[in-house]
Amino acid sequence: MTLIQLQKLKKEGKKITCLTAYDASFAQLLDEAGIDILLVGDSLGMVIQGHDNTLPVTVDDMIYHCQQVHRGCQQALLMVDMPFMSYATPNLALESATRLMRSGQAQMVKLEGGAWLVESVLILTERGIPVCAHLGLTPQSIHQLGGYRVQGKTQWGAERIRDDAVALQTAGASLLILECVPCKLAEEISALLDIPVIGIGAGVECDGQVLVLYDMLGITPGKRPSFTKDFLQETGSIQAAIEVFIKAVKEGTFPGHEHTFE
Ligand code: KIV
Repeated sequence: MTLIQLQKLKKEGKKITCLTAYDASFAQLLDEAGIDILLVGDSLGMVIQGHDNTLPVTVDDMIYHCQQVHRGCQQALLMVDMPFMSYATPNLALESATRLMRSGQAQMVKLEGGAWLVESVLILTERGIPVCAHLGLTPQSIHQLGGYRVQGKTQWGAERIRDDAVALQTAGASLLILECVPCKLAEEISALLDIPVIGIGAGVECDGQVLVLYDMLGITPGKRPSFTKDFLQETGSIQAAIEVFIKAVKEGTFPGHEHTFE
């Protein structure tokens, strides 16, 4: 899978599938099932390392897991999260992203944040590092946001996310993840942007969907977020759960109303 192919999927109105992976075995299962994008998410801080949030995750942690996922990945695009504070300045972003691409073998990096990232996105993309932006609920800002809650519900909040999305696309981002925003806003941004928009808790009208693997297998400790679905419960095997997720996203039957914020 390449950026050009992802762009083509958007143009043709075909949905894009993405799941997180943290090791070679799951990466291989997902890859063989035909997932389009594998995301080595910094959610590993919570689901693998057992932290309360993603803040303790380091670039070294991400490289370690990215190397494992790379070994199991043949066809999917391999995207990696840049962890908390690893892109606090444009130069730091270049240094961290270079390590994630060179040692981790990632094909794309993901950064959480709005227009303040424009300079970093320019620096990375001008040097050949593809960037995915991440807007809406940005878990690395959990303390500033005051909790895991839906973003963009007010007119001001929605306008800010929309403006940030345009600014990041203009700076060179090739993909956008929108997390926990009202479905109408996500639909509007997906139609506005040329680049594919991948939603999580953002409704069915995005160009694709992503979930944390452990959420969709129902093994995340604690309460499962309302926008996720336990595909393992209804299928009985990990392989079938992954296949049903991919089919449901491609056919536009996931997410349903019950996984969507109005
Ligand atoms: O870290 C992660 O798994 C993510 C997804 C929730 C999009 O960023």
